Amino acid sequence: MIIRSSDYAISAVREDQYPKDNLPEIALAGRSNVGKSSLINSLLNRKNLARTSAQPGKTQTLNFYIINDEFYLVDVPGYGYARVSQKQRQAFGEMIQDYLETRANLKGIIILVDSRREPTKDDVAMYNYAQYLNLPILLVCTKIDKVKRSQVNKVMAGLKKKINLNYDNVTVLTFSSVTKLHVKELGNWIEKQLK
Ligand code: GTP
Ligand code: MG
Repeated sequence: MIIRSSDYAISAVREDQYPKDNLPEIALAGRSNVGKSSLINSLLNRKNLARTSAQPGKTQTLNFYIINDEFYLVDVPGYGYARVSQKQRQAFGEMIQDYLETRANLKGIIILVDSRREPTKDDVAMYNYAQYLNLPILLVCTKIDKVKRSQVNKVMAGLKKKINLNYDNVTVLTFSSVTKLHVKELGNWIEKQLK
C-alpha cells in the first residue's frame, strides 16, 4: 500500500458522530497498551499522529484517521484497563460493541496481542466476537522485537493454544513498531480488504 496522505479525521463516542462519507473502515482492537496507536503511526510513517503513551488507557474514544482520502483506520480504546471505573469500562464496551455490530462499511478488524504473553481472556473474547461478527481478522502479535528470535515459535504455539485459528478469514502476523517488521504485509492485508 502506498500512503499518499494521512490525517486525523474525527473522534466519536456514538453513531451520529461517525464519518458520514461512507468510505470503508478498518478497526484496531486490543488490550490497552498493546500498541494499537503505535501500529497506526508505523503504517502511516508518522511519528505521533495517533497519540501513544506508556500509560495505558490513552485512547478513550473511537478515533478515525483518513488515509489517501480512500478509507479510515479506526483506533479503538484498549480493553482490560484496570484503572478505569467499572462504569466507564462498561461504557467503553458498549461504545465498541455498537460500532462493531452496526457499522456496515467496516471491512475488517486488526486484533493486536502482546507477543510476550499468552493471549488473555479478553483477547480470546475479542477474537471470538470478531469471528462471530464474520469480520475478516488480522491477528497481529506485536512487540515482537522484545522476543528472542529463538522464542518466536514458542510465541506462535502459545497463541494457537488459546486461539482457534481454524477460521478461514484470519491472517496472523508478527509485528514491531520499533523495527517496522511486517509493516508492508500489514498494508497489503488492509488493501485486500478494501477491494
Ligand atoms: P491505549 O491507547 O492505551 O489502548 O494503548 P495502545 O494500544 O494504543 O498502545 P500505544 O501504541 O500507545 O503503545 C503503548 C506502549 O508500548 C508505548 O510505550 C509504545 O512505545 C510501546 N510499543 C508499542 N508498540 C511497540 C513495539 O512494537 N515494540 C516495543 N518494544 N514497544 C512498543
Ligand atoms: Mg492508543
